[in-house]
Amino acid sequence: MTLSELTASETLREGSIPVLKTSRLILRAPRLEDANSVAVLANDRRIAENTARIPHPYKLADASQWLAQGNKSDRDVLFVVSLPDGRIIGACGVGLLEGPLPELGYWLGTEFWGKGYATEAVRAVIDYAFEELQHDGLQAGARVTNPTSRRVLEKCGFQWTGVGLYRIRALGSSAPIDRFRLERAIWASLKTWAAVRKVA
Ligand SMILES: CC(C)(COP(=O)(O)OP(=O)(O)OC[C@H]1O[C@@H](n2cnc3c(N)ncnc32)[C@H](O)[C@@H]1OP(=O)(O)O)[C@@H](O)C(=O)NCCC(=O)NCCS
Repeated sequence: MTLSELTASETLREGSIPVLKTSRLILRAPRLEDANSVAVLANDRRIAENTARIPHPYKLADASQWLAQGNKSDRDVLFVVSLPDGRIIGACGVGLLEGPLPELGYWLGTEFWGKGYATEAVRAVIDYAFEELQHDGLQAGARVTNPTSRRVLEKCGFQWTGVGLYRIRALGSSAPIDRFRLERAIWASLKTWAAVRKVA
């Protein structure tokens, strides 16, 4: 099924996915008209080679397909990440893939790297996954050659659980990854500590 065969509400569940606001970012359900911005941003080998399913080159049809496949179920939630002026800078989501727990995924357009945006967006999605989706834990993977992503996960409380292999579509092969997990209890303690520090 293609995007054009579905209505926007069927495809993107825009009405049932909340808008998450952080101090500098807005995370919202994707819209059909986002395909062009997503295609331009994601068409970079450094993004494709560090994510499992993003092809390279990344074309408008790939973005449309991605939009059509996202947000299929209540427990599979995809957000586009934008600046307050509405400019899309990337995407972040959590969904059931392989493995025992829902998996966190994220990427940003390269011009937006190094500003703390990924950490800010990922924290918002983690809170949503635990508070609203009631997940017991989350998993994530980062290529062993991707210390930036590893650092994002660690800053958000994820703990290393071991190594594995991911099939990387843009490489046409598998690559070693570090696996991470965030348990609900760890997330809850981090939230408590953050609240205590804010009051003190
Ligand atoms: C991973 C990605 C989302 C990070 O985005 P970002 O907004 O630059 O990340 P942040 O600024 O929030 O945090 C990056 C952290 O990594 C650190 N970092 C950057 N380069 C690093 C390196 N070579 N070694 C170790 N740490 C590094 C930064 O200093 C920062 O940590 P700090 O806040 O403690 O200083 C972005 O690089 C990206 O889209 N990459 C391609 C796709 C991808 O890797 N997705 C993740 C799939 S697992």
